Amino acid sequence: GLGIGKLLTETGYVTLDPGFVNTASCASAITYIDGDAGILRYRGYPIEELAEKSTFLETSYLLIHGELPTPAQLSEFEEQIKHRTLLHERFKSFFSGFPSSAHPMAVVSSAVSALATYYPDSLDPFDQEQVDISSVRLMAKLPTIAAYAYKSSVGQPLLYPDNSLGYVENFLRMTFGFPAQNYEVDPEIAKILDMLFILHADHEQNCSTSTVRLVGSSNANLFSSVSAGVNALWGPLHGGANQAVLEMLEGIHSSGDDVRSFVNKVKNKEDGVKLMGFGHRVYRNYDPRAAVVKKATRKVLDTLGVQDPLLDLAMQLEEVALADDYFVERKLYPNVDFYTGVIYKALGFPVNAFTVLFALGRLPGWIAQWREMITDPATKIGRPRQVYVGAPERHYPNA
Ligand code: ACO
Repeated sequence: GLGIGKLLTETGYVTLDPGFVNTASCASAITYIDGDAGILRYRGYPIEELAEKSTFLETSYLLIHGELPTPAQLSEFEEQIKHRTLLHERFKSFFSGFPSSAHPMAVVSSAVSALATYYPDSLDPFDQEQVDISSVRLMAKLPTIAAYAYKSSVGQPLLYPDNSLGYVENFLRMTFGFPAQNYEVDPEIAKILDMLFILHADHEQNCSTSTVRLVGSSNANLFSSVSAGVNALWGPLHGGANQAVLEMLEGIHSSGDDVRSFVNKVKNKEDGVKLMGFGHRVYRNYDPRAAVVKKATRKVLDTLGVQDPLLDLAMQLEEVALADDYFVERKLYPNVDFYTGVIYKALGFPVNAFTVLFALGRLPGWIAQWREMITDPATKIGRPRQVYVGAPERHYPNA
């Protein structure tokens, strides 16, 4: 078959590398991954340290601007974001235009794309000042968009942002609160969600980020590029895996299947069934984010006093899989999505909103990567080559 390799075509040698398993599309100074050692660093800082000590907005600043902010820079960044959390009033009718059965990822990507309609003067990718404002607008408005997508799908009134609250608290209140009612956000829960956003904030040239860069390489604006990233993230092999994991766990639970027979189905590749939340293109040892999430899952369930049989099921699945030759030989380990769904479910999010939470976390990474791409003198429009394997020249039949 056609694998990785150099092939001679009419135009010379091209490298055929489906899925880009061995092709770098850019040089980047943002995120470092060593997949064999299970190392992930943003701008040099280990993910474990950031997850423990930083905040999502501080980490976002780090990713976007390259250095940790000073206290003054951080509060300026937070203030700028707070000032821009509102959506234009007319934008609200946008949400009511979708059926309530709409998948929120479709609503969110459309809304991000539609942001460009409100800021026609900010679309020049080389206007540094406008790019800065667009970056802040996206960070500020995505939580409002995500909350409105949820509220309109369940037919509840939309809540304006409350800018006395922190980034995550504000999002939780807009999602679960009601007008004229107090919504108390448990600070421990907000801190854990903030930490989950840090874990998702960047992951170098993954599918959605590569999409953002590729779209941007045509000099498309930041809103359009990020909207494309949201769509790429939706797929179940990428960010959509968090929804797929929970559906898999619910399926096993309700069928009464035991874990071993499910794992056997996966090994026999019956109906193409995969162990969702397992495996990663780059991590061939363990996913350092999964280790942090696993610890947090227990904490969230304890804090909320929730007992979820799906967590036990997930832990059993992990145990059985990690002791099984199929998974060991293929170096398949739990990835970041394996446990996040259990947390999101405990927090009260509907299953189809899980990938939106991933998008909220990944946003600063998309922005940082787009900005690096647009300012890199080595950037060219992304335009892969192909190896043509179709029919040779033939002629249209005469009537
Ligand atoms: N369950 C069962 N088998 C698997 C799994 C899995 N989750 N993942 C990979 N394999 C098997 C493949 O079938 C293949 O076996 P084979 O050699 O017998 O054909 C082998 O392991 C290698 O897998 P590839 O598909 O070649 O690995 P690739 O790097 O292309 O895919 C991916 C990585 C997409 C993450 C894959 O592991 C997968 O589909 N996992 C489930 C979905 C998932 O959890 N996605 C989230 C990824 S993390 C993220 O986006 C944040």
